[in-house]
Amino acid sequence: MTYILAVANQKGGVGKTTTVLNLGLVLASRGKRVLLVDLDPQASLTVFMGYDPYRLTRSSYSLLMYPEISLVRVMQTFGSLVALVPGSVDLATAAIRMVQEQHPLGRLRTVLRETQYTFDFVLIDTPPGLNVLTVSALIAADQLIIPIQCNYPAMQGIKAVQDIISHVRTGMGNPNLKLRGILPTFFDSESLFAAKVLADIRTLLPGQVFRTAIPYDPTVADAPHVGKAVVDYAPESAGAQAYRALVDELLA
Ligand SMILES: Nc1ncnc2c1ncn2[C@@H]1O[C@H](COP(=O)(O)OP(=O)(O)OP(=O)(O)O)[C@@H](O)[C@H]1O
Ligand SMILES: [Mg+2]
Repeated sequence: MTYILAVANQKGGVGKTTTVLNLGLVLASRGKRVLLVDLDPQASLTVFMGYDPYRLTRSSYSLLMYPEISLVRVMQTFGSLVALVPGSVDLATAAIRMVQEQHPLGRLRTVLRETQYTFDFVLIDTPPGLNVLTVSALIAADQLIIPIQCNYPAMQGIKAVQDIISHVRTGMGNPNLKLRGILPTFFDSESLFAAKVLADIRTLLPGQVFRTAIPYDPTVADAPHVGKAVVDYAPESAGAQAYRALVDELLA
């Protein structure tokens, strides 16, 4: 059974890409077969994985645009457990072409569900904003994780994604899409304000917020600069411990 998880929030810089990367690597360290899909024209996940998105000839763009292109022609593998569908700057064009040329938004869903490869988890990184790329990810996904920073605009981000979830459920061919959880990120345990906001969010959305909060930890931001994810770069750091705890919660 493959779980397809999208990580989305209309707000930028909330830790979506970092979450996809670290979750993916921790899941693989537990023996899970993982496919990471980069749907962001910024292609940060692809860069974090060590690729130059300007040099790739095929990316998730090809999957969205050309039905004859199969997953295997696009996928890059890392050892036996991790694979990546890279992103590219073309995705910005894809977003426009998909609307103009009325490409079916369910194509990613079909590709991921009809592949002969078996993955335990597919993790989809989405761009900030809620455009057709994010919608394609939500149509493809079984479950959604929404990372949020614990401040008040965070609530607006949640509201926007909740609206989209209900549209995707009712009119876009994915009635079973579930919110897997809201993930507090950049959490500053010394800030009384952050603690209060988190407590408020938990009260407002009971049972929908992960127990694990990802702390603000500069090591997390340093890791990509040496070509690593924090779980490999500094396994004992607070950030790495939190991502392992998150995987415990996901697998429980
Ligand atoms: N827990 C953390 N502590 C400190 N820095 C972090 C943490 N998580 C992510 N960062 C850093 O913050 C920046 C934004 O994170 P990330 O790219 O994961 O966010 P994003 O939501 O994917 O952004 P975008 O909306 O632009 O795609 C990156 O430089 C990342 O390394
Ligand atoms: Mg990102």
